[in-house]
Amino acid sequence: MKYVYLLLFITTITMSQEQFPIKNHSFASSDTQVKHLDLDIQVDFTNKVISGIASYQIDRKNDSKQLVLDINGLKINKVTFDNNAVSQPFTLGPIVEHLGQALAIKLKANVKTINVHYQTTEKSQAVQWLSSMQTAEKKHPFMFTQSWAILARTWIPCQDNPEVRITYSAKVKVPKQLLALMSAENPIRKNSKGIYNFKMKQPVPMYLIALAVGDLSFKKLDSRTGIYAEPLMLKKAAKEFSDLPKMVKTAEKLYGPYLWDRQDLLIMPPSFPYGGMENPRLSFINPTVIAGDKSRTNIIAHELAHSWSGNLVTNETWEDFWLNEGFTVYFERRITESMYGSDTATMKAKIGIDELKEAMKKIESSKYPEDNRLFLNLKNRNPEDGLTVIPYEKGFYFLKTLENIVGRKQWDAFLKKYFAQHAFQTMSTSKFISLLDKEFIQSSGGLGEKIQINEWVYGQSIPSNAKPIQSQAFVQVDQQLNRWKEGTLAQGLDTQGWVSEQWIHFINNLPEQVEIQKLEDLDQAFNFSESGNVSILSQWFVCLVRNQHAVQYPKIRSFLLSTGHLWHIYSVYAEMIKNQKTQQLALDIFSQAKASYHPITVRALQELFQ
Ligand code: BES
Ligand code: ZN
Repeated sequence: MKYVYLLLFITTITMSQEQFPIKNHSFASSDTQVKHLDLDIQVDFTNKVISGIASYQIDRKNDSKQLVLDINGLKINKVTFDNNAVSQPFTLGPIVEHLGQALAIKLKANVKTINVHYQTTEKSQAVQWLSSMQTAEKKHPFMFTQSWAILARTWIPCQDNPEVRITYSAKVKVPKQLLALMSAENPIRKNSKGIYNFKMKQPVPMYLIALAVGDLSFKKLDSRTGIYAEPLMLKKAAKEFSDLPKMVKTAEKLYGPYLWDRQDLLIMPPSFPYGGMENPRLSFINPTVIAGDKSRTNIIAHELAHSWSGNLVTNETWEDFWLNEGFTVYFERRITESMYGSDTATMKAKIGIDELKEAMKKIESSKYPEDNRLFLNLKNRNPEDGLTVIPYEKGFYFLKTLENIVGRKQWDAFLKKYFAQHAFQTMSTSKFISLLDKEFIQSSGGLGEKIQINEWVYGQSIPSNAKPIQSQAFVQVDQQLNRWKEGTLAQGLDTQGWVSEQWIHFINNLPEQVEIQKLEDLDQAFNFSESGNVSILSQWFVCLVRNQHAVQYPKIRSFLLSTGHLWHIYSVYAEMIKNQKTQQLALDIFSQAKASYHPITVRALQELFQ
């Protein structure tokens, strides 16, 4: 008898899985596609719940019978059609790891609008609720969403597949003293009712829909750029990012008009796990980007560049992620070069390529050595697994190599055309390869072998046509490093006028083992552990941990407690758990810091501790 039940159970599951085939990490129906979304939601800080109605305008092909949406950790209360209050039946598919489940709604003839009444739960991973203590001002709570890559479905039922683009509007009710902002046309100032209306007329994939609510003020930079931040941070942020208006113009000069009307920045609370996120019209920026000397404004350039690569021309699947990030790093460095000179851009590139080589060694001996390829294999995996430095820096290196081979003039013309012709569409790796083929290989004989496309895209190492990146400014650093290794004290080194990239290169190239006294000497002379630049700080702390410089651990503790930028804290924790002596300390700090970290950060660190 038991077996019969088991059999029945198994057949239901497989039947429903067949019923909801997975494509590109999504259950979304392709014969019924959402075209427009109207959200009407409330943000309830007391219960930590977003609730309301998502209404969809759909496109039905061949008289399609049902609409399938993705959900993950959502509670569905009711489904209705058009203006009719009568509840309509819906089915939920089986829960699949990473993906959540399908929400299937049978359609009747002539139905125009489908309304899903829903609410988030504590399983809604995209949503972070911060207490006032976790903000800069410590007066008001804050909430924000982080939809990349497949977390939009944890706060909005949706077709969470980058191939599906929608326009949207939203009515958002929040506590009266707070301002709501979205990756859309924004209201700019608080109103007394706490009700905000948003409109997004450019079609976007779901991972680019974002909401933030907090005690935020706005400062204009020019007619199409400005900054939102907690009042306390606003002045500092405006000063640090004063180059933004010029950056937008520089980007336009390179690869064509900015098509999103506005480019504002939102300075996030410290627990924001990334350096930045390219939410259209409103990039989310980690507060550590405010280094005090504009040395990290390349992240602003990076998020801006996504307005072309990623937001206009979007990766078709998460396996094509390098088309978003590799292009964006390339574009970011072209902006840096135009604005701050080729020395700066070259230094940044060299640091990036050094990082790439380090990462490739680690990935080579990991469970997934294929992650060293540009075109990833993410079958049955969380797309977040693809989030390594490879799509970024190997992607950059490939495009830089293409620039070298075909010449900058031709390459720039190609890119400009690429963004114009594929705007508001998706791009896959194979489509991109055939574009290259058409443009550079079929027409001018011989370039195919020179370019080595297949080695770049499907190979696991760096192809032989990659030109080493040489920075004159780093040659100076190497000279001083040599003098230091030969015994010159820190004070005696010639470091006048060095910029942060040079310091990063210096720290990265210190020997594995350094005596404590020498570390102290360096820190006294150069103040690394007080740096405003989070890359210098984290790399320096890695070096201190590697050499078990215990006196400095309190500083490392306070760094790990106050910083939320995952990549930086991860590298420090990773170094700590390598050695038994610091393992326990790492766990202690983590258990103390956990409450203020983002769930994404907590998960990544927990995996590290396993
Ligand atoms: N799209 C990414 C950030 C991201 C990645 C957010 C994955 C969520 C999940 C963003 O554009 C980015 O790449 N940011 C980098 C900065 C950049 C200069 C390399 C970061 O966060 O450090
Ligand atoms: Zn990016």
